[in-house]
Amino acid sequence: MIWPEVTGKVLEIGPGFAESLRFLKHTTTNDGSYVVDPHVINSYTALEPNKFLYGNLDKNAHSNGFSVEYDDKTNPECKPKSNTSAGANAVPFKIVCGTLDKFENIPQAILDGAPYDTILTSFVLCTAKDPKSTVDNIIKLLKPGGAYVFIEHVRQPPPGDVHVVEDNNVDAVFWGKVQDWINPLWSIIGHGCCVTRNTGETIFKAQGWMSVDYKSVRPVIDLQSRIMPLSFGKAIKARED
Ligand SMILES: C[S@@+](CC[C@H](N)C(=O)[O-])C[C@H]1O[C@@H](n2cnc3c(N)ncnc32)[C@H](O)[C@@H]1O
Repeated sequence: MIWPEVTGKVLEIGPGFAESLRFLKHTTTNDGSYVVDPHVINSYTALEPNKFLYGNLDKNAHSNGFSVEYDDKTNPECKPKSNTSAGANAVPFKIVCGTLDKFENIPQAILDGAPYDTILTSFVLCTAKDPKSTVDNIIKLLKPGGAYVFIEHVRQPPPGDVHVVEDNNVDAVFWGKVQDWINPLWSIIGHGCCVTRNTGETIFKAQGWMSVDYKSVRPVIDLQSRIMPLSFGKAIKARED
């Protein structure tokens, strides 16, 4: 699977270890390295609040062919760990510390880099302190016609929800109640992760999109997938008139 929608100047919110990088379009260079395609991705900014994740984030970015740098305002103490072999054409990858929860707290480096062609979240809005405000800020930072690409775990969509493409006869009402029941403990264990958010709907209802196309699935694999059904898709920011 690749994410063909992820192109141009990219901002990823909450990349963690940047597992998402392997889903970007890659290419093979003359020396045989398999790297992110510089004709598809021009630059990548990773906005990650948890500095304990930077070691693996840096390593992962480097092994996907990026040239890593740190924002000197939010990460003055950090130095790239692994840039020695990044080629001259390597795509820049900037690690910035922060979140999009409140517009006034968005790091200057993120504002300076705007507008972005693509903004990406993968399993982040479950933890964001203010998911609605995060989505509103994503819209502000996108260029008109730019894409927000997301995959998030969500509250069981209600029976008959038109976005559900894989239903598997899961009892959505029952499992929704289970989600309500376990959420307080889950949030403590999962560092603020909530399993009861209607994230697809939050994105869908935000003001400023030209289109929102998302699907939800209730996979039947194990208990975790009952508690974490998925919504994923793409929203395009409205163009200016
Ligand atoms: C479950 S992990 C997902 C990591 C990665 N996106 C993935 O799919 O593997 C959640 C990530 O969101 C980050 N995070 C937590 N709160 C956040 C917030 N308010 N804004 C942005 N990122 C946040 C965490 O530090 C962590 O890296």
